[in-house]
Amino acid sequence: MKVALITGVTGQDGAYLSEFLLKKGYTVHGLKRRSSLFNTDRIDHLYQDPHVDNQKFILHYGDMTDSTNLTRLVKEIQPDEIYNLAAMSHVRVSFEMPEYVADTDGVGTLRLLEAIRLLGLENKTRIYQASTSELYGKVQEVPQTETTPFYPRSPYAVAKMYAYWITVNYREAYGMYACNGILFNHESPLRGETFVTRKITRATAKIALGLQEKIYLGNLDAKRDWGHAKDYVRMMWMILQAEQPEDWVIASGKTTTVRDFVSMAFAEVGVELEFKGSGIDEKGYIKSINTKIYDNLFSSTVQKSQFLAVGQEVLSIDPKYFRPTEVDLLIGDASKAKEKLGWECDYDLQDLVKDMMQSDVKLMQKTQLLKDNGYETLNYFE
Ligand code: NAP
Ligand code: GDD
Repeated sequence: MKVALITGVTGQDGAYLSEFLLKKGYTVHGLKRRSSLFNTDRIDHLYQDPHVDNQKFILHYGDMTDSTNLTRLVKEIQPDEIYNLAAMSHVRVSFEMPEYVADTDGVGTLRLLEAIRLLGLENKTRIYQASTSELYGKVQEVPQTETTPFYPRSPYAVAKMYAYWITVNYREAYGMYACNGILFNHESPLRGETFVTRKITRATAKIALGLQEKIYLGNLDAKRDWGHAKDYVRMMWMILQAEQPEDWVIASGKTTTVRDFVSMAFAEVGVELEFKGSGIDEKGYIKSINTKIYDNLFSSTVQKSQFLAVGQEVLSIDPKYFRPTEVDLLIGDASKAKEKLGWECDYDLQDLVKDMMQSDVKLMQKTQLLKDNGYETLNYFE
């Protein structure tokens, strides 16, 4: 059976992809960073005791900034497929640490490609590069396809642009099977807590349970093409199974504002929102409460939507979440992947919001239980 190496195995996509490849019978090696606390929450259910025989899921310490480490691991593992998912992936944070991001997200990809080349694995090892719709930035065409020109708008996107072109270059220069998946935003219950969708679903569940008063957000007008990460990791694998190495856009083809995502999340707990004011003075208020939906969801913990009231202010703008340069609109056209690889989505946006809300409601019910029993719980508002 095939052997895969996943960098960024502890991230959202790394976790779903590991699960997917293990089900397919792969042996999966994952690169994880050393940290002072366990950082494997998302993959703990896949963990195998290293003392047992025939281990199928094996973790290695490593870092994208350390080429000797990467080269040694590729040499030891001799992977059939590498999925390069490791990155400092937060766009706003990339403005605060641009040099590190260039090193990890940009040069890190070169380090892996060089490892394959130096070890003479060009004909054995296929490599997937986690490219991004952020490359389109200030979009030059709507919708965006594989031929739309790039116009990156953040240190993250610029670093990913280097990674994109060095992947293309190694394919053309050395005949390597190296591909870019230009993936549009994909989310899930495993999404990092500071990306906007997860920030919204967590806060909505907390507000509904009286654990938080309101949510502070930045640009509500930004439009994103959101899909479910489970659908998108399947596509990463399909890209590496194609006959020829190519670059592929993966997207849902629909775009939605951040404001509408907030409304959809609140609707899951039976709350209708209305927005008043504009710019940094815009606020979100509870317009109505469907107690049937609310009580149905929370009957085991609270009753009669006791923490909510019509007219309550639940959303404000905090300009600190604005970005120095913003990407206003993303909407992808994945026709090529649909036609040539037969890709289809299992989840639409409504399914995604439901999945995330159900998961965060359960999580916050546990948090509430802990709080009721006198335990400190984290209230992190990033
Ligand atoms: P994520 O949840 O932020 O995971 C990133 C992973 O990279 C984590 O495992 C992280 O480790 C690891 N990492 C960060 N810096 C590293 C370094 N210097 N050395 C080794 N590992 C490092 O991201 P994701 O959402 O799963 O996305 C996966 C990839 O797809 C990323 O490259 C991202 O830029 C790209 N992408 C994502 C989307 C999306 O919408 N999700 C769309 C397009 C492209 P820790 O757990 O230790 O932090
Ligand atoms: N994070 C965040 N927090 N974003 C906010 C907030 C907030 O409080 N308020 C509004 N936004 C807006 C951002 O300005 C942006 O326009 C949009 O919500 C989405 O932000 P994120 O969820 O942080 O994702 P992103 O689109 O910047 O980047 C994600 O998708 C890319 C693919 O297009 C990341 O996963 C990248 O790694 C990925 O490449």
